[in-house]
Amino acid sequence: MGKKLLLKDDHIAGIQSYDVYRKNGGYASVEKAVKTMTTEAVVEEVKKSGLRGRGGAGFPTGMKWSFLAKPPGIARYLVCNADESEPGTFKDRYLMERIPHLLIEGMITSSYALGANTSYIYIRGEYYYVARILEKAIDEAYANGWLGKNILGSEYSLDLYVQIGAGAYICGEETALLESLEGKRGNPRIKPPFPAVAGLYGCPTVVNNVETIAAVVPIVNDGGDEYAKIGIGKSTGTKLISASGHINKPGVYEIDLGVPVEEFIFSDKYCGGIRGGKKFKAVVAGGSSVPILPADLILKTAKGEPRLMSYESLADGGFATGTMLGSGGFIVMDEDTSIVKNLWNFTRFYHHESCGQCSPCREGTGWMEKILHRILDGHGTMSDIDLLWDIQGKIEGKTICPLGDAAAWPVAAAIRHFRSEFEEYIKNPKSIKDVKHYYRLNNLQSA
Ligand SMILES: Cc1cc2nc3c(=O)[nH]c(=O)nc-3n(C[C@H](O)[C@H](O)[C@H](O)COP(=O)(O)O)c2cc1C
Repeated sequence: MGKKLLLKDDHIAGIQSYDVYRKNGGYASVEKAVKTMTTEAVVEEVKKSGLRGRGGAGFPTGMKWSFLAKPPGIARYLVCNADESEPGTFKDRYLMERIPHLLIEGMITSSYALGANTSYIYIRGEYYYVARILEKAIDEAYANGWLGKNILGSEYSLDLYVQIGAGAYICGEETALLESLEGKRGNPRIKPPFPAVAGLYGCPTVVNNVETIAAVVPIVNDGGDEYAKIGIGKSTGTKLISASGHINKPGVYEIDLGVPVEEFIFSDKYCGGIRGGKKFKAVVAGGSSVPILPADLILKTAKGEPRLMSYESLADGGFATGTMLGSGGFIVMDEDTSIVKNLWNFTRFYHHESCGQCSPCREGTGWMEKILHRILDGHGTMSDIDLLWDIQGKIEGKTICPLGDAAAWPVAAAIRHFRSEFEEYIKNPKSIKDVKHYYRLNNLQSA
C-alpha cells in the first residue's frame, strides 16, 4: 500500500502553524471524538486498530488503555513520552518538529478517551527547541478552543503542559519519567503497582510514546478497522523508522509494517543501499538496545524466509537468530565497521546512563565497559570474552527496569554473532587511538 498516515502532510509549507494544519483537516479527530463518540467508543477503535506501543516494547495500546483504573473522584493522567534517548532513534523529534499539531491533536483525542483532564508531554532536555515548538502549538490550540474548559462546548475540559527533562536516558523508562515529572530524581519504580493503577502522583496514568499518540489521530478519523488493514499479522499500521549509518539515504521513513528488510535497505524508495558501494555487514534494527544481527540473518530468518519489518518477523528465531523492532532505530553498518568498537561505544553509554539503583546494572555495565576497553586496547585475553558473556547474563532480567537488559543484549548478540572479531583483537592487538583519545578528552582513567 504505502499510504502515509503520520507524515502525509510533512511536505506542506507552513504545516507547523495552526492555520495550515487546520486547513489540511487538522483536529478532525477531536471534533469526531468529543462530539460524536463516547470515551469507551474511542478506546474500542484503538483496540480494533491493533496499534502497539511505538516506544519500544510494542504493548497493545488499546489493552493498556483498558487497564486504566477509574476510581471515582480520583484524577487520571495521560503522559506522552517524548524522551527519545535511545541511540539511533530520532523519529519522534522529526514528527514533533515537522507536525507539532499532530501530537497535540493526538493528546487531546487520547486524553478524552482516557478521561484525563490534565496531561503532560515529557520531553528530553536536549530537545529544548522542540519543546518551544510544542508550546507554541499548545498556545494556538488553546486560542482556538481545542484546549481549556468545555472543549467544543462539551463538558470535557483539558489542560496540556510540556515538561522538559534534564537529559537522562533513564527518564525514558516510564516510571523514572513519572518520578522526574513529580520533581524527583528519575529512578525507576518497582512494579507492581503499574502506572495504570498508581502512576503520576499515585493516580491512574497512561504513558505512551509520541508516535503511538499521533497514530490515534488517523485511527479515530478512519476507524480502527481501516488502520488494521495496513501491515501484517499482529503488526498493524504504519511505523516510523529512523534510518542511519552507512546508507545512501538516512532519514525518517514511514513504512507499512511488513516491508521486506531487503527492500527497506536497498530500494531507492527507502535507504537506497550501502554507501560507497561497500559490503553490507550488520544491522541494529530497533535502537541500540536490541540484538545486532549480521547481514545474512537480518535479510533472511534462520528458516530461509525473507525477514520483514514487523514485530514478529524481526523476532523470529528468538535471540539466537532474531532481534526486535524496538523503537525503530535502524542502524546499518558496512564492512569497515568494528563490531567490538561499536559495542564498547554502546556499553559506555549504558554505563554512563545507569541510574545506579540496581547493583547488577550499576556495576556490570562498568565492568563490561572496562573489559571491552581492555580488549580494544590490546590487553585482552580469550577468557575476557567468556567473562563478558558471564557478566551480561548476570545483568539480564535482574534489575528493576529493563535498562539492564538493554545493556546486556547488545553484548550477548555481538559475542554470539561476531565472536571471531573479539578473538582477532585479542590475538592481533591493534592500536586504537580513538578510544584512548576519548578517555583523554574526558579526563577518564583508561581501564
Ligand atoms: C531505559 C529505558 C528507556 C526508555 N526510553 C524511552 C523513550 O525514550 N521513549 C519512549 O517512548 N519509551 C521509552 N521506553 C519505554 C517506556 O518505558 C514505555 O514502555 C513507553 O513509553 C510506553 O509507550 P508505548 O506503549 O506507546 O510504547 C524506555 C524504556 C527503558 C527501559
